Amino acid sequence: MNQPSAIVLGTGASLPEKILTNHDLARMVETSDEWITTRTGIKERRVAREGETMSQFAVQAGSRALEMAGIAPAEIDLVICATVTPDMPIPSTACLIQHRLGASRAAAFDLSAGCSGFIYALSVAHQFIRTRMYRNVLVIGAELLTKYLDWSDRTTCILFADGAGAVVLSADEREGHGILTTALHSDGALADYITLPGGGTLHPPTEESVRQGLHFIKMKGNETFKLAVRSIEDVCREVLATSGVRPGEVDLFVPHQANARIIDAVGSRLGVAKEKVYLNIERTGNTSSASIPIALDEANRKGLVHRGDRILFAAFGAGLTWGAALLRW
Ligand code: ACO
Repeated sequence: MNQPSAIVLGTGASLPEKILTNHDLARMVETSDEWITTRTGIKERRVAREGETMSQFAVQAGSRALEMAGIAPAEIDLVICATVTPDMPIPSTACLIQHRLGASRAAAFDLSAGCSGFIYALSVAHQFIRTRMYRNVLVIGAELLTKYLDWSDRTTCILFADGAGAVVLSADEREGHGILTTALHSDGALADYITLPGGGTLHPPTEESVRQGLHFIKMKGNETFKLAVRSIEDVCREVLATSGVRPGEVDLFVPHQANARIIDAVGSRLGVAKEKVYLNIERTGNTSSASIPIALDEANRKGLVHRGDRILFAAFGAGLTWGAALLRW
């Protein structure tokens, strides 16, 4: 028997209302709108208010994706929430989302793969659908990274932001549609490039750990940058080659929105035309696992995605991790 395809039936996103501009940041740390814009492409980002939770944005993104898909919550077999900023360590945020959505039949778990989390989750969902274990999988990428920012560290507080995006993946018997290939990689030897050392069992939260700022994100930005460009290019070439698709045949490239310069460099090295690269980092900042599904939902709702389009996704993040997916819409 043929393996079913995993097609995207619906997309959704949800962002906090509060906007933090580069000018706002320039009043908080030694930086400028000009520096942030030219080095990252970011002009403003969304920031959750006190009391707003990651799960609330994830639930809203998920329910918008379900509505577009025309799928009832009870028809969902599995909820995967890609995140590095769960509501709490126990239980998984995916279980909170599963309950609040009313996805009563669904299994649920969180997946942690840094900014590559959405690509990893997409790949996992694809395997469940291909093996016919599940028909409908809700894949969510959601983060409240600003809760872990040191607002006096200009190397990180200008980059990261909050939001959630989701897709409903569903089994389809037509061949050559949906997810064509995924590729996942990691290199734990470079784990110290992007870390949040505190709060886990290595450094449980104590007055001392908080005093030392171990609960803040730390990043070797420049080293990460160089590796990101090379690794994203390589993994994109890998999924394209596996599927027999040339870079020029990509209709839409939706990369993780980490830095506009990384995206520009990857696009031009690959030979994907600039107008085929979807960029929203100017307004969203780097929302880690959430950035690809937020960008995809925007593109979809703007009518930029058409049946038969070849869509390339790629990401790079903490772990280190990186990955790509190629999809026929
Ligand atoms: N404003 C002004 N100056 C700054 C700022 C700022 N906000 N931040 C750093 N600088 C200064 C530095 O101190 C340095 O000054 P110096 O030359 O006097 O020492 C200078 O600017 C250059 O610093 P670099 O770190 O070399 O700047 P770079 O061009 O690399 O840009 C950035 C920094 C934006 C962080 C970039 O390296 C980047 O985007 N890296 C990749 C991030 C990424 O992709 N992360 C992966 C995903 S994250 C995850 O998985 C959770």
